[in-house]
Formats: sequence, structure tokens, C-alpha cells
Amino acid sequence: MNDRDSFGSQFGALVAMAGSAIGLGNMWRFPYLVGTNGGAAFIIIYIVLIIFITLPIFFSEYLVGRISKANTFRAFKKLAPSSHWGIVGILAAISPFLILSFYCVVGGWSLYYLLKAVTLQLESPSADYSAMFTNFVSGKYEPLLFLFLYLFLNGWVVTSGIKNGIEKFSKIIMPLLIIMVMFIAIWSMTLPGAGAGLKFLFYPDFSKVTPHTFLAAIGQSFFSLSLGCGTMLTYASYIKEKSYVVPTCIYTATADTLFAILAGMAIMPAVFAYGISPSQGPGLVFVTLPYIFSHMPLGTLFATLFFFSIFLAAITSSISILEVPVTFILEEFKIKRKTAVKICLSVITVTGILCSLSEGLLKNIHIFGKDLFDLFDFSSSNIFMTTTALLTVIFVGWKMKKGTVTNALSNNGKRKINPIYVTGVYYTIKYIAPVIVAVIMIRGLF
Ligand code: PFF
Repeated sequence: MNDRDSFGSQFGALVAMAGSAIGLGNMWRFPYLVGTNGGAAFIIIYIVLIIFITLPIFFSEYLVGRISKANTFRAFKKLAPSSHWGIVGILAAISPFLILSFYCVVGGWSLYYLLKAVTLQLESPSADYSAMFTNFVSGKYEPLLFLFLYLFLNGWVVTSGIKNGIEKFSKIIMPLLIIMVMFIAIWSMTLPGAGAGLKFLFYPDFSKVTPHTFLAAIGQSFFSLSLGCGTMLTYASYIKEKSYVVPTCIYTATADTLFAILAGMAIMPAVFAYGISPSQGPGLVFVTLPYIFSHMPLGTLFATLFFFSIFLAAITSSISILEVPVTFILEEFKIKRKTAVKICLSVITVTGILCSLSEGLLKNIHIFGKDLFDLFDFSSSNIFMTTTALLTVIFVGWKMKKGTVTNALSNNGKRKINPIYVTGVYYTIKYIAPVIVAVIMIRGLF
């Protein structure tokens, strides 16, 4: 396919990949995990695990996309013709539907809260923010309206393609996001009593480190680097030949980790300055923080910046997830990008509505003991993503030739990389990564 779209520059590709990695996971889970798992001790473990385990898994996904220059299904088919490995690509193209079903619902919530902040509705210190959140998310119309708006924006970016849509958008949004979160962090750290939040984040407490800490760190790094649902594979397939594999992945992981730490510095000092104990997930973002903003001078300004940041972090991730099935459909069925986007969004609109309504109208529907929102979340993270990642590393380690993998890692020798490093990465992919991913998978299931 000669007219395949591609990223215009290596830098643009890098920004888009960082945009995918930096998302809700960085803002609402990482800071909490750090604080409850030994502060700096967790950060050190997280970084070491990324270097030795997650990066080799990242390289594997990246390599498959880059060598094949195709969608998830065709990629495995091209590299292993007349085999059944294409199924991995199909699995990879299914998980985005599951993830987007709930991720976009939350994206819609962030838009709603942004609107609330801008219209000065997060100003009252006596408001019950917990009830406000529950009332909103359990509603029949409002959350759906914001879900549709959020989906429309995703569709608009992805319809414009890789270079003119995703790359351009990410290049504008990512610097804006980083500047805003830096600004919030500076302000947050200067609040009286902020030191307790910094201590929560950075005081190295090795007594809190347990085997669970390692699994939590690796699971988080995995989700945070968008692995296991074909995103990095698909993005890599649009990156030009001359870009270097190893540095691109390392830069993405570095940006993602630094941003996660920055998000912690923006959130935790403010939480502790107001004497609140931190939670994670929606409770932190949509209940605790609005409460804090309403109590502080310039609260509306910071609430606006904050919810705008959440929205931007979410959308640069969700467009990357949407691109996976869009590329798959447009290439396999030879249809226009716009049509592929419409098909994918139609499905996600239906599943998204189900997820959103499971917070209210459909809350009594439980499958395997979970409401629909949790079911989509659980099955994507704990079944589809882990299975895809496991099969991808097995594919790269056992099915592809060692020479093909090591050549790709060093860009056919054009990039001077220590051969010991390349060999180390290869054997990690072959022997260690499958075991680790299998452990994460088993732990996630039981
Ligand atoms: N990395 C994103 C986050 O941390 O929020 C989530 C994500 C994006 C997961 C893309 C998977 C994916 F393919």
C-alpha cells in the first residue's frame, strides 16, 4: 500500500506516542500507588522494572508494527504467513472497543467538570461534591451528552489522519498539557502544609514494599505505556523507516514517567494541604479535588486548568486507542478512513452508552458479579490486554528470527547499540517477559 499515511517527523511520532502513554492512568492512579507503596521506594522499583521488563515488551510491540508497516492483524500475518498468529492482531483490535467504552465515558465526565468549572459551579465550599458526582454520573441524559461530545472530538481528530490529525493535534496539546500541569504543581507545592503531600510521594519507605508492590508497579507501567492493545504497534507502523526503535521507546517511557511524577506533585500536596486522605480514581479527581478547589483562592482558575488537563490527557490517549481498529478496518476492508471511523464510533457509542448507564439506570445489571463499566474495564485490562501482550512477546521471542529482532533493535546496524544490551533485551523478551506477563495475567484474573 503505497499511499499509506505516516507521521511527518520522528519528533511528531514521539509526541503522539507520549500522548498515548500519558493519560488518566498517570493522573489518577500513579500518584496514589506511589504514596501507598513506599514513596520514592516505589518510584525506584517502578523505574527499574520499566528498564528491565516493560521496555523490552514495548520494543516487541513496536518492532512488529515497524517491520510490517501494517495494522495489527496484517502485521502478524505478514511476519508469519500461513499461520494462525493473525488472531493476536484480531484480539488487539478488539480490546480498543472495550477500553474506549469506559475510557470515553470518563473523558465525557472531564468535559462536564470543565464546563462546571468555567461556569463557576465548583466554587461553593459547602457543596456536597460526592453527591454532585453521583447525581451526575447516574443521570440518563447529561453524561450521555458529554460522552457523545467526547466521542465526536475523537472522531474529528482521527478522521483527519495520522500526520494531519493525530500528529498535529498531539503537537499542540502535549506542550499545553505539560505547561498546565507544571503550573498546577508549582502552585500546589506552595500551599501551606503541602510538605506532607511531598513526603507522601517521595519519602522512601522500604518497609511498605511487598511482593504486591512489584506487581502493582509492573501492571501500572504496562497500562501507562499503552501496551497490549495494539496502540504502540499501530503507531509504530506509521513511523518512517529511519526512526530509531530503542531511543523512541526510551523517550516515550521517560516522558510518561516524568509526567506521572509531575502529576503527583500537582495533586498530592494540595490534597494534604487540606488535610484530606488521598484516594485514587474517580473519587480523587471528581470529588476530592473539586472540594479542595472550592476552598482555595483562585480555585476556579485551578479547577479549570485541572479539568482541562484531565480532558487533554484523556483525549490524546483515546485517539491512539481508536486508531487501532480504524487502521485495521480501513486496511482490511479497503474503505475510507472517514467510514472506518464512523463504524468504530458507532460501536463505541452503543457500548459507551451501556457503560455510562451502568452507573445509574442499568446499575442492577451484573455479569460475573460486575456492572458493565467494571466488566469492560476488567476484561480489557485483565484478559485482552494481557493476553495480547503475552502472545506478542512469545511471537517476537519464539517465532521471529533472532537476527530479525536484533537487527530491528539496532536499525540494521545503523545505530550503535551495545551488542550485549541487544542480546540482553532479546533474551528478556524470550524468557523473562512471557513469565512476568503471565504472572500479571493470573494475578489479574484471580
Ligand atoms: N496509557 C493510558 C493511560 O495511562 O491512561 C491508557 C491507555 C492508552 C491504555 C492507550 C491503553 C492504550 F492502548
